[in-house]
Amino acid sequence: IFTEVCSQTGITLSRFMIEATVANPQLAELESIFSAIETAGKTISNLVRRSSLTGLTGYLDSGNVNVQGEEQKKLDVITNDVLKNALKFTGRMGVLASEEEDAPVEVDDDVESRYDSILVERTAGQYVAVFDPLDGSSNVDAGIPTGTIFGIFEDSNAECEVLPDGSIVDECLGKTLQPGANLVAAGYILYSSSTFLCFTLGAGTHMFTYDEHIGEFVLTDPDVKIPSRGKIYSFNEANCQEWDEPLQKYVNGVRTGTGETSTKYSSRYIGSMVGDVHRTLLYGGLFGYPADKKNVCGKLRLLYEAAPMSFIVEQAGGKASTGRTRILDINPTNVHQRVPVVLGSADDVSELLGLYGETD
Ligand code: AHG
Ligand code: MN
Ligand code: MN
Ligand code: MN
Repeated sequence: IFTEVCSQTGITLSRFMIEATVANPQLAELESIFSAIETAGKTISNLVRRSSLTGLTGYLDSGNVNVQGEEQKKLDVITNDVLKNALKFTGRMGVLASEEEDAPVEVDDDVESRYDSILVERTAGQYVAVFDPLDGSSNVDAGIPTGTIFGIFEDSNAECEVLPDGSIVDECLGKTLQPGANLVAAGYILYSSSTFLCFTLGAGTHMFTYDEHIGEFVLTDPDVKIPSRGKIYSFNEANCQEWDEPLQKYVNGVRTGTGETSTKYSSRYIGSMVGDVHRTLLYGGLFGYPADKKNVCGKLRLLYEAAPMSFIVEQAGGKASTGRTRILDINPTNVHQRVPVVLGSADDVSELLGLYGETD
């Protein structure tokens, strides 16, 4: 249906969502969620672009460290609040989980009058949103591209559960810990030369570009398809001595032109997952943050970085794996658990999986 919807140019995000939900009524509730994400994305884009003019660069004066053990930037916290507030008032959200929140946040259904005359009713809904409000934030003060990553799950009707080790997974946490295969929508917003919104609803990957002249995200690539092969590999090679041997072999092959394609690839790595994945989607090749001897699970977080990006890449015809397991098949046991990630062009990922002795 999306190819029909996307046949004309000048389709704004709101029109795309209206027409997509006309054809797929079950998507209707997502319309208000995407409208909230769109508003949050415009707001965050503004905050990031003007940060050196408004004193929003740098770290929190409090020196606060988040649950990841990372010192929080002012923009990490502000962008988190922007997204939480935007999503809370859709009336569709049951639970929110964020890189910048220790635990999932339950959208309580109290009625709260936030303004003198208007009673803004905040009601709980049945969706779960997971997000990384500002990805690549260590780069943001240098003007290097950053992004927002989000995923949307339906309520899993999880009950409170006592695990074999005696730990308790309460209902709220249970709703959050879902495999990427359960995602009903996933996307990212890239704050770069333009502000791009790229997302999937499970029927292809669609790319929009923000047009400041009309204040709208406009459809610029209705059905993104990642090339089956690329000529770029994208890793933080400072860690390469610590990588698994199959990955060292793959990277050595593409670095020297002795891999499956006998082609010498270029290395491109900006240290912002959203920027590196966006380039990989459009140009092809392989992006990864692999495990190494120090970080046996790698660095990227499954729930709100690896899984949403894997859904987007797979829907664009690419692949996403830990090197041994399809990312979307992993059942999370912890909100902030990390997984090794290699994703991108299908044939490049397959070549690497072959070296791991895995078939995809
Ligand atoms: P975040 O800024 O949300 O904490 O994520 C940063 C991640 C990801 O964007 C990027 O791919 C990776 O960190 C870069 O890590 P290194 O600087 O260790 O290469
Ligand atoms: Mn961070
Ligand atoms: Mn991130
Ligand atoms: Mn982040």
